[in-house]
Amino acid sequence: MNTEWQLAGQTLQLFRFPPNQHDKSLQAWDSADEYAIEYISENYADDSTNRPVDVIICNDAFGALTIGLHGLSPICVTDSFIAHQAIDHNCTQNNLTAPLILNSLAVLPKSQLVVIKLSKNLDYLKWQLSQVQAMASAHQIEVNIVATGKTTLVTSSVMKTFESCCQNVSSSLAKKKSRLIFATVLPEHISSSTLNKDETQLPPYQAKCPELSLTLSAHANVFCKDQIDIGGRFLVEHMPELPSSTESINIIDLGCGNGLLGVSFLRQNQKQILKSLESQQVNVTFCDESFMAIKSAQYNVKANTPELIDICQFVQDDCLTQQKPESADLILCNPPFHQQQAVTTHIAEQMIQHAKETLKPGAELYLVANRHLPYQGMLKKQFGGFRVIANNNKFTLYHCIKRKT
Ligand SMILES: C[S@@+](CC[C@H](N)C(=O)[O-])C[C@H]1O[C@@H](n2cnc3c(N)ncnc32)[C@H](O)[C@@H]1O
Repeated sequence: MNTEWQLAGQTLQLFRFPPNQHDKSLQAWDSADEYAIEYISENYADDSTNRPVDVIICNDAFGALTIGLHGLSPICVTDSFIAHQAIDHNCTQNNLTAPLILNSLAVLPKSQLVVIKLSKNLDYLKWQLSQVQAMASAHQIEVNIVATGKTTLVTSSVMKTFESCCQNVSSSLAKKKSRLIFATVLPEHISSSTLNKDETQLPPYQAKCPELSLTLSAHANVFCKDQIDIGGRFLVEHMPELPSSTESINIIDLGCGNGLLGVSFLRQNQKQILKSLESQQVNVTFCDESFMAIKSAQYNVKANTPELIDICQFVQDDCLTQQKPESADLILCNPPFHQQQAVTTHIAEQMIQHAKETLKPGAELYLVANRHLPYQGMLKKQFGGFRVIANNNKFTLYHCIKRKT
């Protein structure tokens, strides 16, 4: 992987996270980062007249924007645990103080410049622009926005989204296949209920699963926020029962998103869980690297199985880094096959490895995947083999048992 980044005459070291990815052609910065850094450095010079009071940087993936604009004392906002780790690590690596990093539902602090790295998710962009509106209104200030992304991300729908929330919207010429969008948010009067852009906000999107009488709500950046994922649904149709154990019983929904797998497990095994709770501990842990996913899953347990909320934990993590080895009895997983815009199997590979490490000997992994994805070798390597529980024209449901040594 190329980790040496030449920026303004300096050589910086920048790593993609999580580390040890196989695809060596991927790097931790792109031309959209460079274009924004160049523009902002030229137009927001570090002097007392022009310098904005704290720049907010939204969605920096691995710290390139934060490092390039470090002179402007940035505060970062991210939904991603992995981005949080990468920004911290890459700043430290380049002898720079790591910035304050806020989660994606946090109220934005006062700032006159907001830099947004564009993603494909228009609803998430709308959420972030509404947060900027709330901040401009709360502090009665005018806020400039500079958004940056590959030209393919600067679509007419993206421009319309900016136009619906901002004034003076324009875009730059393309440079190395990247473009900038400029916009201003004026301090309009917004009612106090609209201003409440924080963690107490209810997840606004809904996916319904009538077969299970489940309604799952989700925040803007959650996978499949307004429809049930068909891979996840396939696992739900073959949901295992509550495992038995002499000690406490621990279940994990790995990469939980809106909580589809974990909430369905709770719903389908509710009676058995309540009975087991009379004599032993049962814990269900929802893990995801997205803050909005964790908050949505928590909301969905409360909404669908409120009696079981006290046995649930919600952990923002990179796979199962924070779980004890050999502690879980059952892991349910519908792994992702991309990171941001890049298609990759490394996260699934890491999930399978962490699942093996986290399961007790004799405990089980249920993993659903698109048929074409090459997970069989990974399952064989970690578990010594697998069983196909079910198959259809799109998905395969794998079952692995951790060997007792
Ligand atoms: C295919 S979705 C599955 C969501 C949900 N379980 C379902 O079945 O609908 C994969 C999930 O993995 C999460 N994810 C991606 N990378 C992760 C990582 N390194 N650690 C934990 N979760 C991750 C994504 O945020 C996403 O919610």
